[in-house]
Amino acid sequence: MQTIRYGGDYNPEQWPEETWLEDVRLMNEAGVNLVSLGVFNWGIIEPARGEYDWSGLDGIVALLHEHGIGVNMGTPTSSPPAWLRKEHPEIRLVDADGRTLAGGSRHGVCPSAPAYREACASIVEQLAVRYGNHPAVEMWHVHNEYGWANVECYCAASTRAFQGWLAEQYEDVDRLNEAWGTAFWGLVYRSFDQVEAPAAAPPGVNPALQLDWKRFSNDAHIANYAMQRDLLARHSQAPATTNFMIPNCEGMDYWRWAGEVDVVSNNHYLIAEREDHHIELSMSADLTRSVAGGPWMIMEHSTSAVNWQPRNIAKTPGELRRNSLAHLARGADGLMFFQWRASRAGAEKFHSAMLPHGGTDTEVWRDVAALGADLKALSGVTGADVAADVAVLWDWESWWALELEWRPSVDLRFRERVEAYYASLWKQHVTVDFAHPEADLSGYRLVVAPSSYALSDAASKNLRGYVENGGHLVVSYFSGIVDEHDTVHPGAHPGALRDTLGLWIEEFHPLHEDERLALEADPGAGVDAGGRPCLEGGAGGRIWSEHLRLDGARAVARFAAGPDAGRPAVTRHDLGRGTAWYAATALDEGGGLDVLLRAALDAAGVERPAGVPEHVELVRRGPMIFLINHTDQDVTVPDLRGTDVLTGAVHDGSVPVRAGEVVILQD
Ligand code: GLA
Repeated sequence: MQTIRYGGDYNPEQWPEETWLEDVRLMNEAGVNLVSLGVFNWGIIEPARGEYDWSGLDGIVALLHEHGIGVNMGTPTSSPPAWLRKEHPEIRLVDADGRTLAGGSRHGVCPSAPAYREACASIVEQLAVRYGNHPAVEMWHVHNEYGWANVECYCAASTRAFQGWLAEQYEDVDRLNEAWGTAFWGLVYRSFDQVEAPAAAPPGVNPALQLDWKRFSNDAHIANYAMQRDLLARHSQAPATTNFMIPNCEGMDYWRWAGEVDVVSNNHYLIAEREDHHIELSMSADLTRSVAGGPWMIMEHSTSAVNWQPRNIAKTPGELRRNSLAHLARGADGLMFFQWRASRAGAEKFHSAMLPHGGTDTEVWRDVAALGADLKALSGVTGADVAADVAVLWDWESWWALELEWRPSVDLRFRERVEAYYASLWKQHVTVDFAHPEADLSGYRLVVAPSSYALSDAASKNLRGYVENGGHLVVSYFSGIVDEHDTVHPGAHPGALRDTLGLWIEEFHPLHEDERLALEADPGAGVDAGGRPCLEGGAGGRIWSEHLRLDGARAVARFAAGPDAGRPAVTRHDLGRGTAWYAATALDEGGGLDVLLRAALDAAGVERPAGVPEHVELVRRGPMIFLINHTDQDVTVPDLRGTDVLTGAVHDGSVPVRAGEVVILQD
């Protein structure tokens, strides 16, 4: 991409044609160069089966083109028309409790229903033929948020498709029995058609069945996407995407999705009431870049409040700009909003937009137009990647497995640990990539595994090889316990990491709710590479404790209290040319966790900028350095030189960044 794509979802069908002229004029004024069109217009362009009305869409595509605005053409399949639901009631979504969901909203269909699939193919073909070579159409926006409300469907068609999927995966039902450990409770299957979808059932449903059901459900949506993408490609050269929901959609495995799309695009909305939501945004952007393997687009974010949270807090002054530029800093080549013009009717009328109900004499509009102008000056960043020395392991399948029922503690939550480790690194100004545990990790100085409950044999080998070859690895508790079918690795825990970490676990000792155990530095641990004590006084841990037995590793810190008082809590194992660290408890954020990561970063030789205040984000992307001040204080960032891309000011030594503002430097 040469220019940064800027714009949003545009729903002209909600407005009289007179408004369209004003829209395109204002889009030009704000620097909008791309809009997503027709994302939800199926009921309008195909009013009855096989009858089409292109008058509105043809007109608006022509008007946008005349005004130099590109089209990201939607396929409207996430909101099937009422006539299709009436004609084929069997396409309706069935939830885990067996309830068939009514219409009146979007998404309420089964991705595996043949009649839905055929209707999707038919409308997509019509769109592809009609607009595939239109010069305004720059890309295809297939569907909308696969898995948003219909991630799993439990109807009869889904169950049949699941049985077919299992037959393809395992070929022989005895291989399925073996993989799923069905000897337990004698839950053996004699043919694939005996397998039921894991709908509401007595507790203790085979976890391996549940995991494969989640894989199947993910694949059912991918199959719908791939069918549409292939149809479009027969008539059009334009690249295809679908908007992901990273990291907030648990049900889709975006490592798998990323290989299916031509451009990775993501929707991200702040959880407004979280004080650290700017860190969560960075995590989303880093994860999106990582699944993309390079630049990507933010397909939707908001100019201000959304409408679907308990309290829809408006963005504070400057936040729209900070959020947008943080996405750009972390690899986005396109910044799009939901939506262009605020809707008057329907479910989302209280959602912010680029053009609010209040029109152009508003702060939101002025911010939107100012950002559009600035993006022109920043186009030199497009195509550039973001370099990271550190990778954090992220695996959706392991997340699914960890949060199934009957774990040693309900406090074992995937995102809780990942976010704690990510936030500590973020505050230490370390830019990270995310990586799948089976990915090539050799380019990273440090790999962090905050929650890797399920690790395959391949992942286990990969991590061991990484350390032996000189890598530094930090692992948090309850990692490497099971394989991809939720079967415990042979022998003592953590079977997939025992050798790498140089220890084994005799017994888990999950803690009571709100219990916190004090830790103390091991007398022999000494100081870290920077001369600091390996664990400062007052450190503690929550959620977890365990009876660790060392087998090659040495203790860095011990539990000072609780069921494992006197036993190791943090360990270090030198293996081959590398080092593996282990934390057997949820180390305090801002305390022991920072100390452990600092020690591991130092040992791995990861450089960090010195003297940058906390909550000032510093990210380097290609030729540019982004400084984003999330505080309400003016700050000065030392030891930086460069020219301010937006003002032309030259800095030679230290760079002032005013409260809430963003400075972008170029060498
Ligand atoms: C999602 C959808 C949009 C809109 C926004 C509102 O991201 O894709 O259509 O509903 O949420 O925040």
